Amino acid sequence: MQRALPALDQNTAARSLSSELAQRTGALTVAGLSHSYGSGFAVDGVTFDIPAGEVAALLGPSGCGKSTVLRAIAGLIRPAKGTIALGDTDLLQVPARSRGIGMVFQNYALFPHMTVAENVSYPLACQGVPKQERRARVDEMLRLIQLDSFGRRLPHQLSGGQQQRVAVARALAGRPSLLLLDEPFGALDRALRFDLQVEMLRLQKALGITTLLVTHDQEEAQSLASRLVLMNRGRIEQIDTPSRIYDQPRTLFVNRFIGQTSMLTGRVEGAGPERMPVRLTTGELLDLLRPTRFVSGASVVVTCRPEEVSLFPDAGPGRLAARLIVSIPLGPHVIHDLELTDGTGIRCAQLRAQAPDTLLLGDRIFVAIDPARCHVFPPDAIGGDLHASLEGPSS
Ligand SMILES: Nc1ncnc2c1ncn2[C@@H]1O[C@H](COP(=O)(O)OP(=O)(O)OP(=O)(O)O)[C@@H](O)[C@H]1O
Ligand SMILES: [Mg+2]
Repeated sequence: MQRALPALDQNTAARSLSSELAQRTGALTVAGLSHSYGSGFAVDGVTFDIPAGEVAALLGPSGCGKSTVLRAIAGLIRPAKGTIALGDTDLLQVPARSRGIGMVFQNYALFPHMTVAENVSYPLACQGVPKQERRARVDEMLRLIQLDSFGRRLPHQLSGGQQQRVAVARALAGRPSLLLLDEPFGALDRALRFDLQVEMLRLQKALGITTLLVTHDQEEAQSLASRLVLMNRGRIEQIDTPSRIYDQPRTLFVNRFIGQTSMLTGRVEGAGPERMPVRLTTGELLDLLRPTRFVSGASVVVTCRPEEVSLFPDAGPGRLAARLIVSIPLGPHVIHDLELTDGTGIRCAQLRAQAPDTLLLGDRIFVAIDPARCHVFPPDAIGGDLHASLEGPSS
């Protein structure tokens, strides 16, 4: 990325823009939003809010309704039901072009025949901003995205990341009161995506503009957003901070969609107030600590994250017999994929320094699941959700 300008100039530009934006942006409140394109609801009773100046990420499998929610907020479609407000303003009463919303799409969507400066200037021209002020604001935006010497270039003379920064500048140039980003970095490679995420976060923090980000990339969502809104089949499954979504998933769908998870099936055997023994389909007994709502005899799915699974060379209480299928070094970890005696797959992540280097594929080994951190769900949640969640995360 180009770092030509001293940070001071960018900060000054950001500060002057931010004081103006702060007067206009507000909390976004979406309530009971439903929309149908013809048959059935693409979005069904969606309710969430974003406090003023914060970033929320909308996540979910392909086709779950994320872009539809964005289109309704932007005024590109009129929802069948529900309300959308920004601060005290009922957005549904405001025509799309007057809503003051900046949007960035996955495919840049710059005007190819216009220079960078003309692209950024376009929303200002539409708003009737006088020419001289337009020029000053374009300069300010280009400084902010560190492309101030690129104004005369055409989009095809820029790299993908530079084009995307221009798209962000164009979205911000009209002094939007709300920023909607639909897979803004989806077309970029990983390293560039990271650079742009950092850049975006810096801009968003400096400007304090309420932002809704749609992404398939869980890491992107977790690093940019203070709250995640997880959708499935047109409805919201959970709204929470990234860490609560990861550690306290309310449904099996959420548990499987965010992060990696292994699923073991079994039946509760005499649940007590604090302990809940589960007889797995392998015939082995898991003694879970977590008090839950399940009664004795109930069929359950026990889920665990790779980092909640430990390996042992010998049998012992609570350890399950397994066979090593494959070990893959991944950054600071080694990922082991194992198979329980009934063929159920289970994944374990060990720190590389702690991973035994004597393990061979096919070795018999024992695994233990952290009984306090695993989750238990009713099995009926698997059916429909399973298909959707497998389609979902792309990264
Ligand atoms: N213009 C349209 N006409 C008919 N159906 C549509 C239209 N746009 C979207 N849909 C349907 O509405 C549902 C929600 O689509 P939407 O584009 O909101 O999904 P999404 O979550 O953004 O998916 P993706 O992650 O693939 O972008 C899908 O089933 C889709 O096929
Ligand atoms: Mg979409």
